[in-house]
Amino acid sequence: MRFLVVGGGAREHAIGWALAQAHAEVVVASSNTNPGLQRLAAASARVDPTDQGRVVEFARAQRVDAAVIGPEAPLAVGLADALRSAKIPTVGPGGEAARIESSKRFCRELLSRHGVPGQPKFLIPASVEEVDRAVGEFAGAPFVVKPSGLTAGKGVWVQGADFTEPKEGATYAKSLLLQGGSVLLEEKLEGEEFSQMALVTDSGIYPMPAVQDFKRAKEGNLGGNTGGMGSYSQRDHLLPFLSAQAREQALTILERTVAALRSEGLSYRGVLYGGFMLTARGPLLLEYNARFGDPEGVNVVSLYEEGDFAQLLLGVANGRVDPNLVRFRLRATVVKYVVPPGYGDRPQAGGVLEVDAPAIEDAGVHVFYGSVEEVGPGRVRLSNSRGIALTAEASAIHEAGTRVEAALKFVKGAYYVRHDIGTKEDLARRTEHIRQLLAPGAKPSPLPLSVAPPNAPPSSSASPEEMIG
Ligand code: AMP
Ligand code: GLY
Repeated sequence: MRFLVVGGGAREHAIGWALAQAHAEVVVASSNTNPGLQRLAAASARVDPTDQGRVVEFARAQRVDAAVIGPEAPLAVGLADALRSAKIPTVGPGGEAARIESSKRFCRELLSRHGVPGQPKFLIPASVEEVDRAVGEFAGAPFVVKPSGLTAGKGVWVQGADFTEPKEGATYAKSLLLQGGSVLLEEKLEGEEFSQMALVTDSGIYPMPAVQDFKRAKEGNLGGNTGGMGSYSQRDHLLPFLSAQAREQALTILERTVAALRSEGLSYRGVLYGGFMLTARGPLLLEYNARFGDPEGVNVVSLYEEGDFAQLLLGVANGRVDPNLVRFRLRATVVKYVVPPGYGDRPQAGGVLEVDAPAIEDAGVHVFYGSVEEVGPGRVRLSNSRGIALTAEASAIHEAGTRVEAALKFVKGAYYVRHDIGTKEDLARRTEHIRQLLAPGAKPSPLPLSVAPPNAPPSSSASPEEMIG
């Protein structure tokens, strides 16, 4: 079987690696040359993944049997539709359904129309003039400002972290509206975040292990939001603070969402990723992604039982999966991204790292390359994006974290990494936070506990044009 992998980050390296483990041939279309993918690929094309014509031409020339699209930008422009039109079964929804990620407005309005549970209160001011009134509706309770379009996780401003006074949030919301596109104001949720991904076929969803992503750039969850500095998953596919019941609630929200898409005529073959906040009201949805998370995809792909990943993805691409192929091992995983110094604020691109990949792999840690350029044997140059995802497994999360930390001695040069990902202290702090939130007598949320009613006019336009950044 010959598979096209679209994208050149660590997520795509992990996907390509798992396909190669399953004896599939891998060809790659991406705008960068990923040193890891380059080594395992039978062929590669350096193309912009949103250039549908060139990607389809390459896929045809390479006579691929199926394709898997990693990043959000090509999904948003409809690359999956273009590949399907060329009779190439594809893992990834078409452009219309991918609006679940590329337009937060489309997403919230769809879920409201269908009464899907798990929505926070939100408002969509139609104009700059409406922003102050919308902010007033939060009546002093903290809120969050979100551009509707794709921003690589970096456009969201949370009160208390990214701004202090409501009027600063209002100014940001107005500036976004003036740039064009929609803006959402949402109640600020308190709790712990988790990512729940599922494979979506024509007949149902197949859950993957829950994962916790670390979005903030700096240790202690300080600094700006990033695409994700690292992530962990637990042996039983739950998380230290996430019960089986709460995970089931999240899965119900995913199922109801797929049903909502389908009832509006939108089929979905691919990965649906729910970013949730576990709150005193249960899991509430922060956002959807229409793809594997990065780094979360690395956690789950590395847990896939060796051998059948190509069959699994082919099944998703064709809309039918043999449930016996959905097999994720019962192990904990930790991923830590090695990033350029200053990442999340002012990243310093161009630094060269010496990476003794064989020594790291010998220590039982996988090296999945992201945005780095190979400049010599064992030498890679960092860009201003995430560089290398070091990934380990063990029976407990903190042990996997310790393995990754030990492997860092084989990476030399100037870089930043969050040492607090997967430590016992971090796990205990999150578990205690949820214990306090869920304790009987805990301070009730100041906002209504029910699902927010639709509170915005029907969507008129919410297309990839909204994308900013
Ligand atoms: P999103 O792109 O919607 O996932 O937002 C990026 C990050 O902003 C999330 O991972 C959260 O850390 C934070 N965030 C988004 N929405 C909310 C919310 N309603 N309450 C609190 N934090 C939020
Ligand atoms: N780690 C978050 C994302 O993939 O968008």
